[in-house]
Amino acid sequence: MIQEIEYKQVGKFEKTKFEKIHNEIFPDSSIASKLVANEIAALIKQKQKEGNTCVLGLATGSSPIKVYEELVSLHRSGELSFSNVVTFNLDEYYPMDTEHQQSYYHFMHQHLFDHVDINPENVNIPDGTIPVEEMDQYCIDYEMKIKQYGGLDFQLLGIGRTGHIGFNEPGSHPNSGTRIITLDHVTRTDASSDFNGLEHVPKKAVTMGISTIMKSRRVLLLAWGHKKATVVQQTIEGEVSSNIPASFLQQHKNTTIILDSEAASELTRIKTPWLVDQCIWTEQLKFKAVTWLSQELNKPVLKLTDKDYNDNGMSSLLAVEGSSYNLNIKIFNKLQHTITGWPGGKPNADDTNRPERALPAKKRVLIFSPHPDDDVISMGGTFLRLIDQGHDVHVAYQTSGNIAVTDDEALKFSEVAYNFQTNNKGNNFKKVIEFLTSKNPGDIDIPEVRLIKGLIRRMESLGAIRHFGLSDEKVHFLDLPFYETGKIKKNPLGEKDVKITENLISKIRPHQIYAAGDLADPHGTHKVCLDAIFEAVKNLKNKDFMKDCWVWLYRGAWQEWDVSEIEMAVPLSPHEVNKKTNAILYHQSQKDRVMFQGEDSREFWLRARERNRNTAMLYDQLGLADYEAIEAFKKYNF
Ligand code: F6R
Repeated sequence: MIQEIEYKQVGKFEKTKFEKIHNEIFPDSSIASKLVANEIAALIKQKQKEGNTCVLGLATGSSPIKVYEELVSLHRSGELSFSNVVTFNLDEYYPMDTEHQQSYYHFMHQHLFDHVDINPENVNIPDGTIPVEEMDQYCIDYEMKIKQYGGLDFQLLGIGRTGHIGFNEPGSHPNSGTRIITLDHVTRTDASSDFNGLEHVPKKAVTMGISTIMKSRRVLLLAWGHKKATVVQQTIEGEVSSNIPASFLQQHKNTTIILDSEAASELTRIKTPWLVDQCIWTEQLKFKAVTWLSQELNKPVLKLTDKDYNDNGMSSLLAVEGSSYNLNIKIFNKLQHTITGWPGGKPNADDTNRPERALPAKKRVLIFSPHPDDDVISMGGTFLRLIDQGHDVHVAYQTSGNIAVTDDEALKFSEVAYNFQTNNKGNNFKKVIEFLTSKNPGDIDIPEVRLIKGLIRRMESLGAIRHFGLSDEKVHFLDLPFYETGKIKKNPLGEKDVKITENLISKIRPHQIYAAGDLADPHGTHKVCLDAIFEAVKNLKNKDFMKDCWVWLYRGAWQEWDVSEIEMAVPLSPHEVNKKTNAILYHQSQKDRVMFQGEDSREFWLRARERNRNTAMLYDQLGLADYEAIEAFKKYNF
């Protein structure tokens, strides 16, 4: 049965004085996508009942994928027919062939149209093959066609980090209609991994205009993940401006923005709820508020005054706590108790206020690393300490990481190996060399190439952990199958991935598991790797050994925990920072010209150093000791 649509509260959106568009926040994108699909399904059914056509405006990109999955499953279960549906897609790259793997034409058929009973004639996607000179007329016709169907009943949107909706980049006019546009550099960078490099991303696109979107009778915009948090805040709380084209939706009468908790994290009511309304002062919120105030005023926690609290919307907190003095000391102690040089627990010490248990003194530790370098980048110093403090440390590389090895790198290794072989057993390498030297952009690597790229990363990670003094038998290469598509797009988590993870945990029976805790990146490898661990841990929960197992989450290369989330802070000495840096440098294939660099063009060792240094400086600024660097962890309670 299609459930009631729980979030539909249009007209009631003035939740706070800051927010100008109705929005709903969900714990994760799966739950939210289900509800969105239900709203679309309900609309299609209502129109069916009335004997009317349902005109849907559709989006592509990573955000709506789960919505389409839900719609397909509603159709498969016999609950939903698309026989009365007409669709208009927002946009298409230009120029772009329909057969191209990255065309939005391909995307829509792959995710929706090939699996439902829509009449192909009712599908409209801007055509990326129209000659330039015919484009103006084509765009006018696209607009006219929407009009002829009576306009859009519903428009689904994602949002780009530039604030674009459709491909209406900053500068787009509110009166704009369907037209050809130039893509923003940020948008092209975000698409570059899909296209195997920025140079292959089209520079232009055809998109419906702002005015086309604004005329839709209902608009739902989806945003998932931390990366969208800033632009979501600007869209919902900022001024209406063509600098953030999505902000025009503030002037639309029937828009809801659907967010997961990470995408909502910069909204005032989430980030600093005490500035918005009365709060229920949980211990966690007090911690968050005081550490925020200390950073905001650039004052150590112990120096915050009653006035500081009162001036910043926290008088009710003072009322609860009695005085700033008491509160400051309480929070200072809490912060201090997160710091430990003994990530595996300090033997023979009172552990009442320590992040880890003293016993057993020698722990079995299992570090999961999504790619073969996340362990050293994100927790290299802690890794080293655990070894040095005599724990039985294992590391599991969850994926081969082969996608992120450049062709040049693979060619270099293959040519070395091929030339090294004196007899003629080197046919595989010959095949690899032939493939790589004639490879076209977008070609999927043959299995032999994937193998050699995976082996390159294996050997690099072995080099790094040998540098730490760990023996090879403590290293486990899981090569989780979800990753092995040969494409940038990976498969969803499967049973096999979970089983492999479960088997390793059962074999090692760890007292500590460390995992990359990038919680809400909806399609990234890290999230799938984390889900595999969460599922495995859930399945093993009732085993005796799991009662002694604690799970610690570290953050990937891109981000750090907010200080109020940190439950274990491991300080590193300058010597440990150098040793960690050297371990990162073993990952040579990820050193120069990394394929998936994001916007930060610095190498990983630099970023890791800076991040750990910043955490240390933050602790210093809050009034604690000034360490060289700190690695941070959050506990996961399963
Ligand atoms: C796609 C589109 C774009 C995307 C936006 C977000 O048809 O028009 O506006 O919705 O770029 O993309 P994802 O969802 O991949 O983050």
